[in-house]
Amino acid sequence: MLRIDQYLTTDDLAKALRRDVAEGLGSRPRSLPPKWFYDERGSALFEEITRLAEYYPTRAERAILLGHAPEIARASGADTLVELGAGSGEKTRLLLDALRAAGTLRRFVPVDVSGAFLRESAAAIGAGYPGLEVHAVVADFERHLHLLPSGGRRAVAVLGSTLGNQPPDRRAAFLADLREGFAEGDTLLLGLDLVKDPARLVAAYDDARGVTAEFNRNVLRVLNRELDADLRPEGFDHVAVWDPRAEWIEMRLRARSAQRARVRAIGLEVDFAAGEEVRTEISAKFRREGIAAELRRAGFGLEHWWTDPAGDFALLLARP
Ligand SMILES: C[S@@+](CC[C@H](N)C(=O)[O-])C[C@H]1O[C@@H](n2cnc3c(N)ncnc32)[C@H](O)[C@@H]1O
Repeated sequence: MLRIDQYLTTDDLAKALRRDVAEGLGSRPRSLPPKWFYDERGSALFEEITRLAEYYPTRAERAILLGHAPEIARASGADTLVELGAGSGEKTRLLLDALRAAGTLRRFVPVDVSGAFLRESAAAIGAGYPGLEVHAVVADFERHLHLLPSGGRRAVAVLGSTLGNQPPDRRAAFLADLREGFAEGDTLLLGLDLVKDPARLVAAYDDARGVTAEFNRNVLRVLNRELDADLRPEGFDHVAVWDPRAEWIEMRLRARSAQRARVRAIGLEVDFAAGEEVRTEISAKFRREGIAAELRRAGFGLEHWWTDPAGDFALLLARP
């Protein structure tokens, strides 16, 4: 049974994009929020990234699920799996299988801003799990948590280290909002990339084939299409740097030469100096003590911590 709720209308999306671009490109240092990478092409490029030799996080998280999904299912006891930033839901199938084997699974609620992609992946999951209620929600998890379906015993999952794309202050607000919506018996499942050798981290965000570079430049194509802009993707280099103090990877787009771009839909003209950068994503890397403290401050207790054999990635279970 497939149901799709659209809390983000095309109009909402257009307004939010205009606001973010006016703020992010209209002031210095320039930045754009990472959610705008994900139109249908951006989501497909992200899937391609997950299969790259350099991109270990997806394989590491899958290894954890392969090794521990039954234990995770038992610990959560969930009948409803809510997945925030679900993407293709490929790894999620391992959790769904384990919850089904445990006999508790009733409902799957994938949530994503990337509407067209979400519809396709929700339909594919619906077809693969007869009898499962699939209730897909097109929403912005930074704004619409209060609208998500409640009831039952929910496990709320944020996989793929998507939590790390928010800076610490917004992460704190997000975790506190999640906590507020939690009922008795609900659990939180977070998949988190861990701090490691910077060379491996940088390679994971700057692959030899340039897929991540294309993904990064895709945000400019989204702006060109949605806001009648004339940004030149080929005029920007993809940059990935490790910030050792903040312990995050930053992705940026660096102007190859001085250039002017017009974002006509909002009447914005942007002059880029040669070498000027636009920050397009942060990807924070975590340590156990650090995230345990963040969870505590938001009202969660860390209950289980699983890692892959190489210790690259962690999946944790927390509850109020
Ligand atoms: C890093 S990808 C992870 C995808 C998948 N969970 C995985 O582990 O491979 C982030 C996903 O979150 C979605 N996303 C990003 N920001 C979002 C937001 N504010 N609200 C809802 N979804 C968002 C993107 O469309 C994308 O599917």
